[in-house]
Amino acid sequence: MPTKKNKSTLPRLRLGAGWSYAPAPESAASARINEQYELFINGKWQKPAKRAYIDSINPATEKKLYRAAVASEQDIDKAVVSARTAFDKYWKKMPANERGKYIFRIARLLQEQARELSVMETLDGGKPIRESRDFDVPMACNHFFYYAGWADKLEFAFPNRAPRPLGVAAQITPWNFPLLMAAWKIAPALATGNTVVLKPAETTSLSTLKLASIIEEADLPPGVVNIITGAGDTGAALVRHAGINKIAFTGSTAVGKLIQQQTAATTKKLTLELGGKAANIIFSDAPIDQAVEGVVNGIFFNQGHVCCAGSRLYVQESIAPLFIQKLKDRMATLLVGDPMDKNTDIGAINSAEQLEKINYYIRLGKKEGSLHYESAVALPKKGYFCRPTLFTKVAQSSRLAQEEIFGPVLAILTFRTEDEVIEKANNSPYGLSAGVWTDKGSRIFNMSRRLKAGVVWANSYNLFDPASPFGGYKESGYGREGGVHGLLPYVSF
Ligand code: NAI
Ligand code: MG
Repeated sequence: MPTKKNKSTLPRLRLGAGWSYAPAPESAASARINEQYELFINGKWQKPAKRAYIDSINPATEKKLYRAAVASEQDIDKAVVSARTAFDKYWKKMPANERGKYIFRIARLLQEQARELSVMETLDGGKPIRESRDFDVPMACNHFFYYAGWADKLEFAFPNRAPRPLGVAAQITPWNFPLLMAAWKIAPALATGNTVVLKPAETTSLSTLKLASIIEEADLPPGVVNIITGAGDTGAALVRHAGINKIAFTGSTAVGKLIQQQTAATTKKLTLELGGKAANIIFSDAPIDQAVEGVVNGIFFNQGHVCCAGSRLYVQESIAPLFIQKLKDRMATLLVGDPMDKNTDIGAINSAEQLEKINYYIRLGKKEGSLHYESAVALPKKGYFCRPTLFTKVAQSSRLAQEEIFGPVLAILTFRTEDEVIEKANNSPYGLSAGVWTDKGSRIFNMSRRLKAGVVWANSYNLFDPASPFGGYKESGYGREGGVHGLLPYVSF
C-alpha cells in the first residue's frame, strides 16, 4: 500500500477482486521528443517538398506527441536516388566484414539508448512499457546483432552459390511493433549489401525516427538507410517508384494484395507479411495452468495487435468448462490502463479507428449468437482502451472465427479429435502461426506437420528468436523474416 509520502496523483490500477497496486510509472523524461521531425534522406534531415506534416498522438491520453513530415513523390524520388547512389558508390563495394561492423554499431547504439526507445515506443503506440522494455527493444537489438554476424558469412548461408545484393529495398512497416519491424527489415537488407528506403506507419513513426538518428550516429555512409514518413499515399508512391528492386511489406492483407497487383508486371521482388487468425489448440492432456497462461499471452499480449495472436482457441471438449473457468479467473486479474505503468498488462489500443474496428467485431459476435464475456476491470476515462474479452459458443463459419480482429478478443471453439481440430484450424484464409498444448511428443510432431501455419509453437506461445524464421502460408503472405531464411529475399544468384 502507498504511504502518504509516495502518494501519487495517478489513478490506481484496480483488480477485479477489489484490491489494487500502487502505481509504478516509468518516467517520460528519458525520451527527448522533438515537436517536429523531418525526412532522413542521404544522411541528412530534410524538410518535405510540400512542407506537409502529420500529427501523431499518444493513444493513452489522446494528446498530440509530435508531428512528422509527409513525404511526397519528389521526396521519395530523392530518397530512392540517394539509396541507389549509396549502393553503387559505397555499400556494394565495401568489404563484407566492414559492412558487418556498421550493423554491429547500430546494435550497440540501440542497446545504449534502449530506455529512451522503450519510452518512445510506449508513448507513441500505447503498448505497456513492460513489453517495449522487455520485448520490442531487446529483440530489435538482437536482430541487428544477429544479422551483423551474417554479413561476412554469406557463402555459408548459401553454399556453392554466389549471392549478390538486389540494390534498393523499399520497406513498409506497421504500427504494432514499429522498432522491431524496422529491425527485421533493415538488418538483413544491410547484411546482404542492399540499401534501404523505409516508411514506418503514420501513427507510430517515433522509434523509427530515433533509429534514423542512431544510424546517423553510427556514421553509415549517406543514403545507405533513408527513413521517410507519411501515410498510405506515401507508401503507395514508394511502391510505384521505378528505381526500387525489392519491396518488403508488413501490414494488412488488403494493402498487401494491392501491392501484389501493382508489382505484378515488374521485376520488383516482393515479400509480404500480412494478417493472421492463429489457432491455439489445447488437448485434454495439456498442462492446464501453463496453457491458460499461454492463451492469455497469445491473445492479450500487446492488446492483441499481433499478426500471430492466438485469436482462435480450440479446447478439447472434455476440459472445456474447466479451462474456460480458469481463463476467466486469470482474465479478472489483468490490469488495463496507463501503458507507462509497469503493472499494466494491457495498454492502449493504437488508434480510435482500431478501437472502433474491435468494437465492431464485439457487436458482430453478439449478433452472430456467440456468448460474450469481458473482465470487470475499470477503464481509464481518456484514451483508447478495451477490456480483455472472450466469446464462447462460436461457430467455425462465423466471421468472429474467420476474420482478423487485431484486438484483445478471443473466439473459443471446441473439438473432440485430432483430425477434427486440424481440419478446423486449417479452415482459414490465413496461415501465419498456431499453438499446440499437449503432453504427447508424437502428437506435437503430427500436428506441426499437418497445420498449415508458418510457425507452430508447442507448449508455448509468442516466442521469438532472431535465428528462427517467421512468415506465412496462404493469405498471411510469403517470404520469411529472421534466421538464414531471412537473408534469401534480399539476394539473387
Ligand atoms: P495498413 O496495411 O494500412 O498499414 C500498414 C503500413 O502500410 C503503414 O505503414 C501504412 O502507412 C502503409 N500503407 C497503407 N496503404 C498503403 C498502400 N496503398 N501502399 C503502400 N503502403 C500503404 O494497416 P492499417 O490500416 O493500419 O490496419 C488495418 C488492419 O490491418 C488492422 O486492423 C489489422 O487487422 C491489420 N494489420 C496487420 C498487421 C500485421 O502485422 N500483419 C499490422 C498492421 C495492421
Ligand atoms: Mg502515435
